[in-house]
Amino acid sequence: MEIKRSIISDLFKIKPIGEKVNIKGWVRTKRGNKQVAFIAINDGSTIKNMQVVVDIAKLGEETLKPVTTGACLTVTGQLVASQGGGQEIEIQCEELTVYGTADPQTYPLQKKGHTMEYLREIAHLRPRTNTFGAVFRLRHNMAIAIHKFFHERGFYYFHTPIITASDCEGAGQMFQVTTMNLADIKRDENGAVSYDDDFFGKQASLTVSGQLEAELAAMALGAVYTFGPTFRAENSNTPRHLAEFWMIEPEVAFNEIEDNMQLAEDFIKYCVQWALDNCYDDLKFLNDMFDKELIERLNSVIKVDFVRLTYTQGIEILEKAVKDGRKFEFPIYWGADLAAEHERYLVEEHFKRPVILTDYPKEIKSFYMKQNDDGKTVRAMDVLFPKIGEIIGGSQREEDYDKLLRRADEMHVPHKDIWWYLDTRRFGTAPHSGFGLGFERLMLFVTGMSNIRDVIPFPRTPRNAEF
Ligand code: 4AD
Ligand code: MG
Repeated sequence: MEIKRSIISDLFKIKPIGEKVNIKGWVRTKRGNKQVAFIAINDGSTIKNMQVVVDIAKLGEETLKPVTTGACLTVTGQLVASQGGGQEIEIQCEELTVYGTADPQTYPLQKKGHTMEYLREIAHLRPRTNTFGAVFRLRHNMAIAIHKFFHERGFYYFHTPIITASDCEGAGQMFQVTTMNLADIKRDENGAVSYDDDFFGKQASLTVSGQLEAELAAMALGAVYTFGPTFRAENSNTPRHLAEFWMIEPEVAFNEIEDNMQLAEDFIKYCVQWALDNCYDDLKFLNDMFDKELIERLNSVIKVDFVRLTYTQGIEILEKAVKDGRKFEFPIYWGADLAAEHERYLVEEHFKRPVILTDYPKEIKSFYMKQNDDGKTVRAMDVLFPKIGEIIGGSQREEDYDKLLRRADEMHVPHKDIWWYLDTRRFGTAPHSGFGLGFERLMLFVTGMSNIRDVIPFPRTPRNAEF
């Protein structure tokens, strides 16, 4: 009778010692001597490998020849308490079949440690490494935590479009979407590109954010969130920017900026706690391999209250630091957009905990943010994190129709693009707030990885769209 396959993580949990079990997975290593071979098998369910012990005389040397690193096997045998150290349980092999070989001459993932740069070039195979197995299991868990957090609090998951015809957000350069023949573009009498015959009959792009549509939903469902891919065509080759990244954007009717800050703080803490509670083996691995302070940092973020201060107070601290001799690459003055080095100074050196900065100059923020009475600042909030800098950007929204319209005009946002958005302020407007969390920025924080290309399966960056 064929034995039903067991998942390796279940075997480590249940430890059905003495039972005959079957596992299927990929060979990580094979070692041993003339009499006995030890094969470490991983099936992706956990970072832990299952050790399979093979009596070579019993199975025959030929059977073991194609069992090399990367090959895929199905193994049946008795689960026993391990004789050797290093693992609690192992399988004494009775039957072994190779599903697929991996020629050691050409299989790119041999035992030796590979650099992150090299692994990016073989992104189709890197999930098979311990590191990326851990990262992608964590990525899944963060997505689950996010949905759970919002669902438990009565938020509705709202799907906003990926293709959009408006660029009112101003969050970044957009990628165009077109079915036009680029070799033969129709132009009008002024030489401008004519989109009349294009698929949508007008210029269309990939969205930079689902916020504006999420606001429409919040005015009906009360509390909503989006969780989807967003696209920005900036040419920024940094360890914290992707051209395609995932964003979570809650939007809540009747929330003021203080509620928004509390939601953001509770939200991140929930996700980090989830990782500690559900992904400890993977975190421990990343902690030991890459970042000895990872688990300590995760624990400390959960415990502390985030510091809250205004942009203006932040600038004062930074200006004082400069006066006292601290060097920054970019100049700092009231009105300047903070660079990552400034954000990290506040978080890592000055306060030594996460910081929420509010009330930024209106010139460096979007048209939709609620205007303060000082006429200079808007009710924006950025959450700044150790090692990351900005992890969340959000605001209370301007709910006053006239003020919003005036600001849109000042910032040259065409009415024809946002008539539907303006309608929310014409019909039953309400105070409301929201924010956007960059999913991969959260992943950077939770995994301790240092490059954003290593927390998404197939990164999209300038001049790079392989796989
Ligand atoms: O600050 P941003 O541009 O805010 C918005 O898009 C608002 N519509 C959000 C809202 O209020 N609903 O982006 C939000 C977050 C940033 O804080 C950052 O974590 C992440 O998205 N982000 C990026 N992540 C990776 N690569 C990029 N190029 C990113 N740009 C922004
Ligand atoms: Mg921002």
